[in-house]
This record gives sequence, C-alpha cells and structure tokens, in this order.
Amino acid sequence: MKLKIAVLPGDGIGPEISREGVKVMQVIARKYGHEFSFQEALCGAAAIDAVGDPFPEETFRLCEASDAVLFSAVGDPRFDNNPNAKVRPEQGLLAMRKKLGLFANIRPITTFDCLVHNSPLKDEVVKGADFVCIRELTGGMYFGPKHEDDESAYDTNLYSRPEVERILRVAYDYAMKRNKHLTVVDKANVLASSRLWRKVAQQMEKDYPEVKTDYMYVDNASMRMIMEPRFFDVMVTENTFGDILTDEGSAVTGSMGLLPSASLGTSTPVFEPVHGSWPQAAGKNIANPLAQILSAAMLLENFGLMDEAASVRQAVQASLDQHVRTPEIQVPGGAHYGTVEVGSWIAQYIEQN
Ligand code: IPM
Ligand code: MN
Repeated sequence: MKLKIAVLPGDGIGPEISREGVKVMQVIARKYGHEFSFQEALCGAAAIDAVGDPFPEETFRLCEASDAVLFSAVGDPRFDNNPNAKVRPEQGLLAMRKKLGLFANIRPITTFDCLVHNSPLKDEVVKGADFVCIRELTGGMYFGPKHEDDESAYDTNLYSRPEVERILRVAYDYAMKRNKHLTVVDKANVLASSRLWRKVAQQMEKDYPEVKTDYMYVDNASMRMIMEPRFFDVMVTENTFGDILTDEGSAVTGSMGLLPSASLGTSTPVFEPVHGSWPQAAGKNIANPLAQILSAAMLLENFGLMDEAASVRQAVQASLDQHVRTPEIQVPGGAHYGTVEVGSWIAQYIEQN
C-alpha cells in the first residue's frame, strides 16, 4: 500500500517521539512491502517561532493532501503563564482539529498486565481494565462563542443535534465491535447541552438494540473510572469532559506515556499521543515513545493493515516484557533505556520477528 504521511513533531518531546514513530513505520513498510512517504511540517510553538502561526497554511495544505497525519505534541512553557499571549501553541492543535473536521477522538485506555503495579490504584482494581473513550473533538466549549476581557469572560458549550448524532454513531459502531456496552457521560442534571446529548442518545439507542446503553453523570463517571475501571467498555462524551476523563484514564494504565489516539472526521485522519509536550524532558532522551508508536499502530489499523499493526503491538509488548522501558515505567534496578533505545529495540524486534 502507498501512504503519504504528514509528520508534525511539534514541541518539547514531540520531535524525539516523532522520530521513533517514523522509525517503526519505516520498518513496517520494508517488512511488508509498502510504500510510505513522510513529509514533515511545522506546528505549535515551533511554527509560531518560525512563521508566527501555530498551524500555518502550508502545514494545513500538506495535511489535506496526505493520507494520514502522525502528530506528536504541542505546548511551550513560554506561553503557559502568560494570559496575555496573543497566539498559543495549543491553537495550532485546535485549528488542525477544526480545519480537518476531526470530530471523533478515539482514546483507548488499555492496561498492560505487566504494568499494573505502575498505577497508583490497587492491582486488583486495574488488572484487565480495557475501555475506549470516544471524545467529541470539534464542538462544545473549545469552539463555542467566547468572550474575554479583564472584567468578565465566558465560553459557550454549544452543541447541535447533527454534531451529537455523528459522534454517537461512531460510539455505537465501536460498541458493536467490542462488548456492546456504551456509557454516555454527561451532566444532564445541570447542563442544557447535556440534556440534548441524552435526548439524542435515547432516540438512537433504539437503532442499536444489541448495545446496552448506560447514562452516567460526569462527576460519577470520574469516580467510577478509578473505583471500577473494568465497568467501562465504550464511553462517549463531549469535548471538555473527554479531555479531563482521558487524563484520568492514564492514571489507570500507569503512565501518560502509553496512551495513543486517533482523530477521525471528514478529511485526513490524525494519529497522536494523548500526552502533551513535556517541555522539562525535551532533549533528555527520557520520554516514552510508546504512545506515539501505538498511535502509529492505530494509523495502520485505520487503513486495514491489521497484521502490520499486530506486529507493532507485539513488539511493544515484548519490549515491556523484556524490561526495555523508559525510566518512568522501568522496574527497580532495570537497565536505562532512552527514547531512542526503546524505539530502535522495537524496530529491530519487528524486523526480526
Ligand atoms: C489533549 C490536550 C489538548 C486538549 C490541548 C493541548 C489543547 O490536552 O489533546 O487532550 O485540551 O484537547
Ligand atoms: Mn488533554
């Protein structure tokens, strides 16, 4: 298969993990006889510094003309504590999501048995937890009408019926492919926008009689997720709740560095880690490349390359089993492996197995 892949390394640890993702894709292409081409473009603070725009037109055009985007991370501390900054790196990510129509963000929360001890939760609570959070990505407070001055400010949690319908459709399709259990997470006891979600879901439920649909308030869901993460199979929620709940999900798996995601919509799909740019670690060769490498596996699956993706996942599992791990998940007394070493080990494993 021929695939044209836009590579957006972004900021902080982004470029380091990006290289490992590309390395793994290249070895897959060689092994399975595919033709993957990679073209890099600017995004985030790197793009602000270079051209004054966190998602330059040129980057957008490359993304549009590509089959997939392999995205890493954006964000820079120079902007974080400056509420007066006119442009922010995160706007680049948001612009990309909006312009590519990426309304469905698929975030699998999968635990690895050999890493359950890494979670702050009890092993018996976490073991076997495996669910998917489907986060709406182009609506809600992130994109609704806003106002900001020194005396007052607001964000509007606006959703239209078609926006809710299309994301619920994605969620139901996932539930059908998994254990047929969907939890709709909202705050319908308080928010009008949530009541629309619930109304639409209750109507759509009838189209999927095989799926058991639960409705859960987001405060309750955030508790349930750490009390009983195995309860969940597929969870669907609005943009802001999904942002918060998936960070909480990373605590279930034990490391933020393990969570990949796929953002799908009306144009080119984007594959990106859930974690951010971790600027403090930039250049230190300590960032975990697994979230990026697993995002590459999701990319392969998106194009039906199931054996290829399975081979990536198997290599990731082997690296964990053999304690080829970055410091934050390494076993006590285990050898030191950096970002590059973990990526290279995985690439070599794929080549040889
Ligand atoms: C995420 C991130 C982004 C978000 C930030 C960087 C804008 O936290 O992808 O979860 O809030 O969506
Ligand atoms: Mn987030």
